[in-house]
Amino acid sequence: MRTKVIAGNWKMNKDLSESAELINGLKSKLATMPNGVKAIVCPPFVSLALAKELLKGSPIELGAQNMYFEDEGAFTGEVSAKMLKSVGCKYVILGHSERRQYFKESDEFINTKAKKTLASGLIPIICVGETLQEREKNITNQVVTTQVAGCLKGISAFDIEKSIIAYEPVWAIGTGKVATPQQAQDVHKLIRGLIAQLYGPATAEKVVIQYGGSVKPDNAKELMHQPDIDGALVGGACLKADSFAAIVLAAA
Ligand code: 13P
Repeated sequence: MRTKVIAGNWKMNKDLSESAELINGLKSKLATMPNGVKAIVCPPFVSLALAKELLKGSPIELGAQNMYFEDEGAFTGEVSAKMLKSVGCKYVILGHSERRQYFKESDEFINTKAKKTLASGLIPIICVGETLQEREKNITNQVVTTQVAGCLKGISAFDIEKSIIAYEPVWAIGTGKVATPQQAQDVHKLIRGLIAQLYGPATAEKVVIQYGGSVKPDNAKELMHQPDIDGALVGGACLKADSFAAIVLAAA
């Protein structure tokens, strides 16, 4: 049985005091983690150091929302793997559709960052997913296949086993229009099949594939009961302790 991994992507929300309030709320609601379930919070960079302090002794783990692949230097506005590790991050979200859309990140760029993440001992959460237009054109499978192949290029089987893939259909993000469990399962199965082709079935069986896009307490259980859905990448519903904790508990 694969672990169910629930990650909260806070996006550009919560200042320092709001971050503290949310983390303290989550700590009390998730003082112990159900068996076989992991919960990760991904606050904005400026809240990470505080989050690390507040999460001491808590089973909730810490991740970042982005990273640059260079170690250090003249890269204004960027943050390195080493910096993220120093503030207690274990995970990094890479290639979120908002970064692809607003910051023009390509599969190749995401791939470079994923390799650096793994070489640094961090776990990447690599995001893929089609737009509404692409789904309506019936090219979801092609789009996701290209993204998975591009993002995973040159990554070893050893590293893939540790990595997390997040399938987030762009049309379901922040829209309240969740993919049906069957729609999500179909693409998750495709992704696991692609990993099996690239790395063999034993490796594919180990990879955690999260679903993201309007996951809420009332739809989380059914989604995560699908055979190839191993957790959730949560946006809006992770901004309140009650709803994020409810999603984490729904994974048990
Ligand atoms: P919502 O849960 O708000 O749809 O966002 C999903 C997401 O983008 C998580 O990365």
